[in-house]
Amino acid sequence: MPKSMYPELFTPINIGAVKLQNRVVFPPISTNFARKDGHLTELFLKHYLRRARGEAGLIIVENSCVSYPEGKHGAYEPRIDSWEFYEGWRNFANEFKKYSSALSVELTHHGWKDRGVDFLSAEKIREIIDSYGTAAEIACKAGFDMVEVQGAHGLLVNQFLSPLTNHREDEWGTPERFAIELRKEIAKRCGRDFPVTIRLAVDDFKDGGINLEEGKSIARVLSEHYDMIQADIGLGPKELRLEPMPYRQGWRAYLAEKIRPLNVPVTAVGMIREPEVAVNILRTQAELIVLGRALIADPDWLVKVKEGRVNEIRKCIGCSECIKARHDEDTAIRCGVNPQVGREVEIKPAKLKKTVVVIGGGPAGLEAARVAMLRGHEVHLFYDEFGGALNIAAVPPGKEKIKWLIEFYRNVLFDNDRVVHYPGKATKERVLSLNPDAVIMATGSRPIMPWPPEPEFLYTYEDVLRRRVILKNNNVLVGGGGLVGCETASFLAEHNSVTIVEMLPEIAMGMETLSRAHLLNELSLKHVKVMTGTRITGVEQGKVALDNGEILDIDAMVMAFGSKPYVPFSLDDVPTVVVGDAKKVRNIYSATSEGFRAATNL
Ligand SMILES: Cc1cc2nc3c(=O)[nH]c(=O)nc-3n(C[C@H](O)[C@H](O)[C@H](O)COP(=O)(O)O)c2cc1C
Ligand code: SF4
Repeated sequence: MPKSMYPELFTPINIGAVKLQNRVVFPPISTNFARKDGHLTELFLKHYLRRARGEAGLIIVENSCVSYPEGKHGAYEPRIDSWEFYEGWRNFANEFKKYSSALSVELTHHGWKDRGVDFLSAEKIREIIDSYGTAAEIACKAGFDMVEVQGAHGLLVNQFLSPLTNHREDEWGTPERFAIELRKEIAKRCGRDFPVTIRLAVDDFKDGGINLEEGKSIARVLSEHYDMIQADIGLGPKELRLEPMPYRQGWRAYLAEKIRPLNVPVTAVGMIREPEVAVNILRTQAELIVLGRALIADPDWLVKVKEGRVNEIRKCIGCSECIKARHDEDTAIRCGVNPQVGREVEIKPAKLKKTVVVIGGGPAGLEAARVAMLRGHEVHLFYDEFGGALNIAAVPPGKEKIKWLIEFYRNVLFDNDRVVHYPGKATKERVLSLNPDAVIMATGSRPIMPWPPEPEFLYTYEDVLRRRVILKNNNVLVGGGGLVGCETASFLAEHNSVTIVEMLPEIAMGMETLSRAHLLNELSLKHVKVMTGTRITGVEQGKVALDNGEILDIDAMVMAFGSKPYVPFSLDDVPTVVVGDAKKVRNIYSATSEGFRAATNL
């Protein structure tokens, strides 16, 4: 096995008495895979075992409810508040014995974000502390190596820590008191040697809340009681702790750096995706790093780094599909780049090896080709352009991470003798000449054009994003305010004055809430004018007529009215599956998951 170029990641470290094999922490990520009644499921177990196979030093199971129903947070949160759940947790922990990862669980009480903690009676506080003790005892007896107290994200412990939510004048008005009493209760139940870590709000990012100086002081006090501190974010905007794609890698590792040095390890979290970034943080800012979405996207991230296969890492691109599922829809999480999330099915060798033609180089086609190849089929891959629609999706500002997905497929689909590449147009004759057993049609979509493009005036979003036309210092109208229209507008607004016209009452509808808010804010900062509830009724050189009677004088119009499926031909005698946008225009997740499914069904 080649020696890893990143030895810092693989240096063992102790959390209390427990030795971690490396510096990677898989943090709590709510999956919604538990049952509504709080019991664990087979899928829940498989999801975490798959991450354990990836050898992270520490795996922390998601937000688990210590006090039901008042402390529950989300419909499918697992419960650890009563011995009724003990057996489930014990079976869960037992399954981890064969892996090297240490196992923890995040103990969470949602608290009362709107009311704070002022109204709680001393008896009630003691009762809640007792419930943390019970939860920790369940985890400890079940075989967990440690537990983590959720002390960030505006939840109960954070509410005690923050001056915005704790104005008490009794003993509980001391910010750290509640967290310290919890720790003592857990030590009483589980022994002082049973490690307890805390995910700590070291900055509330909210006026009047915990600032970093105060966070540093809180961290110092709590480091006398806890065995590891994760430097995280408090009551402030959710966007900062579930950051959308445009955020810079490792942007908030400085929070960990600022609270150091402490006498316990400090962990940095947030948008850490590449081993270079991870080791740079380990060198100067923190003792451990968190890889959350990075290990959702590719549970083998660390194994690939260890084996010198960094190029094969499927990096999380920050598409927020997982957040949309968990936070907007409260359904089981899914991943835009890893179709196995939520299925946890293995890719098995095919019983009958087939000749498979995949037509299309976008995410649906490339995922289908990858899985068909892994199953041992002979794959013939046709494409006009490797990466397909991903190439234009990666162009608008802040969307560069999408290129990572193209690179991933390039790295796994080239330089091997199991996939034959056919750049250029696929024709029926070329496909049939290969005598395929199956065809996967992943030919994507084409822009909808209510008016034919006109040179020097009327273009499609593709013309703009592919830079077939360069618009500068113009007054540009973008017709259509869906995701593509808004991102095209953001791109154009760097050098033009831009107006979006959308017939629906709002723009960028259907996007994940935080990413949408980020995009809308960007459009506003770039002074993009937005006209909603407005239809374009006519277009001629230099003018656009609207259904409100207005005629706008413009230099150029860009059509972003969406796109329609494109299937260039059909093959009567060969079993064919149509996937991705060619079937119905949607997003990266639909494309990769349908490509995956088509190839597993071959
Ligand atoms: C879908 C989703 C669910 C999450 N659930 C939790 C949770 O249960 N508890 C928690 O403390 N943080 C939760 N987080 C935050 C992550 O633990 C992590 O801090 C965040 O994703 C940033 O790290 P990353 O960029 O490595 O993913 C969640 C994040 C995501 C994306
Ligand atoms: S869904 Fe998107 S943001 Fe979430 S882990 Fe997968 S690639 Fe990352």
